[in-house]
Amino acid sequence: MRMYDLIIKKRNHGTLSDEEIKFIIQGYTKEEIPDYQMSAMMMAIYFQGLNEQETLALTMEMAHSGDILDLSSIEGLKADKHSTGGVGDKTSLVLGPMIASLGIPIAKMSGRGLGHTGGTIDKLESFEGFHTSLTTKQFIDNVNKIKLAIVGQTANLAPADKKLYALRDVTATVDNISLIASSIMSKKLAAGADTIVLDVKTGSGAFMKTQEEAFVLAEEMVKIGQGAGKNTFAIISDMNQPLGNAVGNAVEVKEAIAALDGRGPQDLLELCLTLGSYMLVGTQKASTPEIGRKMLENSIENKSALHKFAEFIKAQGGNEKAVFEPELLPKATIIEDIYSPKAGYVREITTDEVGVASLILGGGRETKESKIDLSVGFKIKKKVGDFVQKGESLAEIHANDLRKLADAKERFINAYNFSEEQISTPTLIKKIVT
Ligand code: URA
Repeated sequence: MRMYDLIIKKRNHGTLSDEEIKFIIQGYTKEEIPDYQMSAMMMAIYFQGLNEQETLALTMEMAHSGDILDLSSIEGLKADKHSTGGVGDKTSLVLGPMIASLGIPIAKMSGRGLGHTGGTIDKLESFEGFHTSLTTKQFIDNVNKIKLAIVGQTANLAPADKKLYALRDVTATVDNISLIASSIMSKKLAAGADTIVLDVKTGSGAFMKTQEEAFVLAEEMVKIGQGAGKNTFAIISDMNQPLGNAVGNAVEVKEAIAALDGRGPQDLLELCLTLGSYMLVGTQKASTPEIGRKMLENSIENKSALHKFAEFIKAQGGNEKAVFEPELLPKATIIEDIYSPKAGYVREITTDEVGVASLILGGGRETKESKIDLSVGFKIKKKVGDFVQKGESLAEIHANDLRKLADAKERFINAYNFSEEQISTPTLIKKIVT
């Protein structure tokens, strides 16, 4: 087999066989196929597309290009959740303990990554002493004992995707739905869970800006997951404004604690209940999403999810007292209100701009080496559809540096658009793909 012939085949609308895809991915991982030929193949795929079988074969090959986590010594069906990423997205912090409190094991491998705020692990490091450097044995033991453990991405998961994603990033071939779906799903499949629930975000703060694109991506990912023998569901959710009210790290942890204590923002709770109900259906804990939802609501009402969160923080070395006394978490030195320049209904919040404002404060990583300031961020008081008076507070800004505060404040205000007409609240759950 020759890569040259396969590039011609795809360029001329051909369909690649499983064997050919295996040859391409294995060859590229082993550096037998050079970047320039792989770039040409990616561009051919970008224009000609992949059919369902090709997409599945590509995903499986990438998933098997490194380690597949062996979770077989964990009792019961394991659930995992993946979000395509958004601003203020702290669902894992709430959902993990809710699901674990109902006895479903969650063995999660999480990355830090770049972005507007830190990843789940960065946020959890708001708890003094919390760490993710567990041995494999500790990881498995913790999940068997308390049903929830999170470790950093140490294993060699889907290295073919890592290499290919970096190549796509510099060859203008990222935004092809089949390539995105196989990239995300290869990592999820390698992470070993039996049930995968995908939170596909759509809107100004999401990777998928339009609902149509998000629907197509969700459908492709569900087909891949099911094709690989996993119970897979996708929830398409709104990211035309931040999720909940907190954007940052420690401020998001505090909001997650409030949600587990039954005092969280409605949208955050609703999303967790929806995602969670499908995790329970997938792991056969609930026969319908409605029954699953009731179980999850109970876990909040009877505080078992909140106590599970404390148990998990303690098991990974963190100061679990802060779950009950959140004032122990990092706090910024400057906390100010951001006042509205206009009166009106909030028509739109350009959500990635709010994310950039958080990044400017130091809440996210611009490069892999950047150090995150866990204490900074925003607490939003006005969301889409709310009426605001001129001079009324739109949000609280939490900062540690006056120059960064001024830049971030300006960026935050510019993210808001106002209307004289009443605006309806956007629907949070756009579609569910099963
Ligand atoms: N996220 C991924 O992991 N892969 C893509 O291709 C795009 C977004």
